[in-house]
Amino acid sequence: MSVQDKTPQMSRRGVLRAAGLAGAAAAAGGQALAQAKINPAKLEPGKPDPTITDIQDWNRFLGPGVEAAPYGKPSRFEKETIRRNVAWLTAGTESSINFTPIHELDGIITPNGVCFERHHGGVAEVDPAQHRLMIHGLVDKPLVFTMDDLKRFPGRINRPYFLECAANGGMEWKGAQLNGVQFTHGMIHNVWYTGIPLKTLLNEAGVKPNGKWVLVEGADSAAMTRSIPIEKALDDCLVTWAMNGEALRAEQGYPLRIVVPGWEGNMWVKWLRRIEIGDQPWAQREETSKYTDLLADGRARRHTWVMDAKSVVTNPSPQKPLKHKGPNVLSGLAWSGRGAITRVDVSIDGGKNWQTARIDGPALPLCLTRFYVDFDWNGQELMVQSRAMDSTGYVQPTKDALRKVRGLNSIYHNNGIQTWLVRANGETENVEIS
Ligand code: MTE
Ligand code: CO
Repeated sequence: MSVQDKTPQMSRRGVLRAAGLAGAAAAAGGQALAQAKINPAKLEPGKPDPTITDIQDWNRFLGPGVEAAPYGKPSRFEKETIRRNVAWLTAGTESSINFTPIHELDGIITPNGVCFERHHGGVAEVDPAQHRLMIHGLVDKPLVFTMDDLKRFPGRINRPYFLECAANGGMEWKGAQLNGVQFTHGMIHNVWYTGIPLKTLLNEAGVKPNGKWVLVEGADSAAMTRSIPIEKALDDCLVTWAMNGEALRAEQGYPLRIVVPGWEGNMWVKWLRRIEIGDQPWAQREETSKYTDLLADGRARRHTWVMDAKSVVTNPSPQKPLKHKGPNVLSGLAWSGRGAITRVDVSIDGGKNWQTARIDGPALPLCLTRFYVDFDWNGQELMVQSRAMDSTGYVQPTKDALRKVRGLNSIYHNNGIQTWLVRANGETENVEIS
């Protein structure tokens, strides 16, 4: 190290020492932290803390200028906040899934770069200038829109909604499987959408009286296709081109996607190119052999579109173990496809006792809702659970209660209560107790 390098470091230490401040600063810091009941791990009274007294490079040298990142990225120290997949779940990555790192996020909005992806034929790289949206079938006036047409159509709105894949937690149906909330609950994202109500476009085309069903089709190689009942289409579906204020990401269906609030993610067709009006459902693959639930008696539930109320504790969880005794903040997410979250209860003893969590931020219908419990951990083993309630009065069931009704064959629509076992050393594990 050159003398030049060392000078500022020396001089600040020198000043602190000369004024007798190093110990005082540590002591004052210790006192303030002690008041907050948080153990000042690094501060030993009388000893200077190098993270305070040493001058770091970032404090000494000029940083990169404004031209360095025309489109910014997260800090390089946040490299754990990434989507992850589970390689053995699928044969390849084109028809596959990855998971939102919900244990690394806070609040209710999912940043665009980490929204989980589910593709059946890879990501379509659609040129917006070559993209068209067609509306045809049982309509008075078939229509074709360019992206520009849609963006100047009157009546644009903005709405935040969660999207949950019906298979979220599917691997957990028969018992605890995957050790991480990212993998057990991460087939979900929650973003602000900008677009036109589907109703507005359908009114423009004029739906004939016998038009009872809407087919939505994607422009990807999988040509994902689903039937939506006209009541839902006219209620709150959106034709969207933006998420969280910017154009949709290619992974999320750029340049156009249908948003079907509160309903299973599979219906939210990406790269939306065609809307057909018919008088009955089309019985596509995704609504017959897939996205139906085989019951114990051999019959299958179908048209199970709505995502029931659900919640999960994201911290602590296996990827985010408890690290400190004393004050801790337990945090989690709750959502319902039937309305708003009205209450979330949390148990730390496996469901024997419950306390009501603190909801912070808006509790909007069909949108992720954030909850917290501020608690003291004395190092005892915990069985952490959460239980959501929504505005219809529905209470999130245990997995046992779900299996009693649905049998053992299901994959989709697992909204059972999750249990995390926190061991005495803080390590946290996916377990099942009810
Ligand atoms: N739309 C098209 N065109 N192709 C697809 O493979 N996958 C569906 C749905 N829409 C899919 C699609 C499924 S199963 C889900 S869960 C959601 O998109 C996933 O949306 P995301 O990739 O934004 O997370
Ligand atoms: Co899905």
